[in-house]
Amino acid sequence: MRPVVQRQGQPLPEAVASRILEDDRRHLLHSWSAQKSRRATIIAGGQGAVFWDAEGKRYLDFASQLVNLNLGFGHPRVVEAIQAQAAELCYVAPEFANAQRGRLARAVAEVTPGDLNRVFFTTGGATANEAAIRMARLATGRQKVITRRRSYHGATAGALSVSGDPRRRGAEPGVWGTVVAEDPFCYRCPFGLTYPSCGMHCADHIGEIIEFEDPDTVAAVIVETITGSNARIVPPPEYYPRLREICDRYGVLLICDEVMAGFGRTGRWFAIDHYGVTPDLMSLGKGITSGYVPLGAVAVSDRVASYFETNVLLTGATYSGHPLACAAGVATLAAYQEEGLIERARVLGDRLFARLDAIKQRHPAVGDVRGRGLFACIELVGDRKTREPLVPWTPRGSREAHPAVAGTIRAMRERGVYAYAKWNLLMLAPPFVITDAELEEGLGVIDEALATADRHVTAA
Ligand SMILES: Cc1ncc(COP(=O)(O)O)c(C=O)c1O
Repeated sequence: MRPVVQRQGQPLPEAVASRILEDDRRHLLHSWSAQKSRRATIIAGGQGAVFWDAEGKRYLDFASQLVNLNLGFGHPRVVEAIQAQAAELCYVAPEFANAQRGRLARAVAEVTPGDLNRVFFTTGGATANEAAIRMARLATGRQKVITRRRSYHGATAGALSVSGDPRRRGAEPGVWGTVVAEDPFCYRCPFGLTYPSCGMHCADHIGEIIEFEDPDTVAAVIVETITGSNARIVPPPEYYPRLREICDRYGVLLICDEVMAGFGRTGRWFAIDHYGVTPDLMSLGKGITSGYVPLGAVAVSDRVASYFETNVLLTGATYSGHPLACAAGVATLAAYQEEGLIERARVLGDRLFARLDAIKQRHPAVGDVRGRGLFACIELVGDRKTREPLVPWTPRGSREAHPAVAGTIRAMRERGVYAYAKWNLLMLAPPFVITDAELEEGLGVIDEALATADRHVTAA
């Protein structure tokens, strides 16, 4: 059978579309869903920030798929790099030196902060966190890991055990030694305090936990530098310098999970660059290849790496540093650099937040808009004064189940804008290649669609 070539605006032949949907329904199991509740949509093709479905309907991708397709669909440079590498050499075992693997490690070392000069490759974000935690435990000889409540670090047993996200119940009772700390979440301060008079209590509280647990048992603090899936939490400027100080005081390693926030998403190479701090380990994924081939990595400081000069690094995987993925990574980083896309994410991010602030003024359902760069969320509330969430945060609640949120997302999709929601949060993360006009178009649609959420507000 010859492949069907789908061009924008042309529907897929009905027989082809039904075959795809039938295979999907009968033979696939999809993540994080009860299968029966799913309604599959076919993505037939895409270009830049736009994709189109089986009927040829056009959507603006305001999510970069899963906050990874930073270069949008079909970036020729990355596609060509993958093709060239496939023709040259598809695979070599991790023990061998390989041109693309080495080049990508060097390129990552060049853009990551401070002395993060060594790179360990994994297959995705969760496995990067597994490796970072393993290295921290081995290098310190300690076991416990402190994490924050509103965090997601991936779906493998260890990464999910250190995730506060309710998806954690998939791994429970989980891996021993996780201690949960509260978040630097100013809009909903867990301590009932107000910035800046709070004096950064949320950071000091991690110091108290370390003391209480016994510093000699704590290997690392793991943080999503800017929290992604659980509310786009941007800590105040003093937070990471203070946390760095606390970790140093107790010989505890700081792991920054930059799987979602890294590689330009927040308008700097890494979210931690906004704070002028160097972590001991930084986990990476998603944007490292712009999602074109699965890849994860841990950037490791000289100090931690030196431990593994004479001690065995007890971890690995068949596909660590896969040449096809590394070739995609080299091309992706070159595209970010040579096309000025990190700077573009910053400029577009400023525009995005200026527009979101105006949208917030117009819609009683919008309690807060948060994030940085092209990494944003709109938090929906039933009452702006009490900040009561418009949709209750339930660990069992499925995404978009509530009519206020489901209706808003539907209104956006009907008007051709794709984004997703979680509880009362509309998540926005357009690709860096989105045009000015497309960004305006998408924000116009979101502005209109929020009228649906407003209808559910009890107190305006
Ligand atoms: C902050 C963060 N860390 C880790 C992961 C896990 O990455 P992956 O799904 O590639 O394993 C994710 C995925 O969304 C994430 O957002």
